[in-house]
Amino acid sequence: MALQNYIRLDDALCAYVRTHQSGAGDPLFLDLREETMRLGAVAEMMIPEEEAALLSILVGTMRAQRAIEIGTFTGASGRAIARGLTEGGKLLSLDRSEEWTRIARAFWRRAGVDDRIELRLGPALSSLEELEADSSFDFAFVDADKTSYEAYYEALLPRMRPGGLLVFDNMLREGRVLGGDLRHDPDTEAIARLNDKLREDSRIEGVLLPVADGIYLCRKKRQEWDLLPE
Ligand SMILES: C[S@@+](CC[C@H](N)C(=O)[O-])C[C@H]1O[C@@H](n2cnc3c(N)ncnc32)[C@H](O)[C@@H]1O
Repeated sequence: MALQNYIRLDDALCAYVRTHQSGAGDPLFLDLREETMRLGAVAEMMIPEEEAALLSILVGTMRAQRAIEIGTFTGASGRAIARGLTEGGKLLSLDRSEEWTRIARAFWRRAGVDDRIELRLGPALSSLEELEADSSFDFAFVDADKTSYEAYYEALLPRMRPGGLLVFDNMLREGRVLGGDLRHDPDTEAIARLNDKLREDSRIEGVLLPVADGIYLCRKKRQEWDLLPE
């Protein structure tokens, strides 16, 4: 007998989830969403507020000081990460769009986190290659072009401190990872391959969470034997 120990979210339940978190209905977040929606269909790329809340809690819980994100867009995830950092903490935010990140910069100023964030513009892989030799991170969030996720993973993992957390967004691709006729796009193929790879990767402990469009949490092990099998 299969246990049905999970729940399917419909619109009403999703709205319930969103209205039952600390700071639900945060006017700054709602303003940013409104401004982002004026950009048209691309607005769908903005993370939802429960994901923003989760990022802040994760960053705060691990007392992260140095964080990096790939995929700034209009700034929602950047603010969420920055507000969770410990005193003196810094976020390096990477994107290639001048237009969208102009909105992010203004939003961060308004939210009072601009002094904790450095934005670098350009193709993210080049920005990663150009990082200072001694740059390392406690926390990383990846939310950009899906076909580069694996390359981002391999570039970031050596720079994560042992015990550090790497978070990938859109790892369910609205269910398309299940395959069949649905999986025929390069982005979903890339994500499905990465999900398989992360499951087998002994350098991390990972879990795929059905939050928003699926987020994969990867904690870099301190040692190969960090988490002993039960
Ligand atoms: C899904 S959006 C990020 C959403 C954002 N994290 C948020 O909280 O709303 C993806 C972003 O990745 C950026 N991007 C896509 N491919 C990129 C690349 N190769 N290098 C740098 N940025 C890239 C896009 O410009 C876009 O702003």
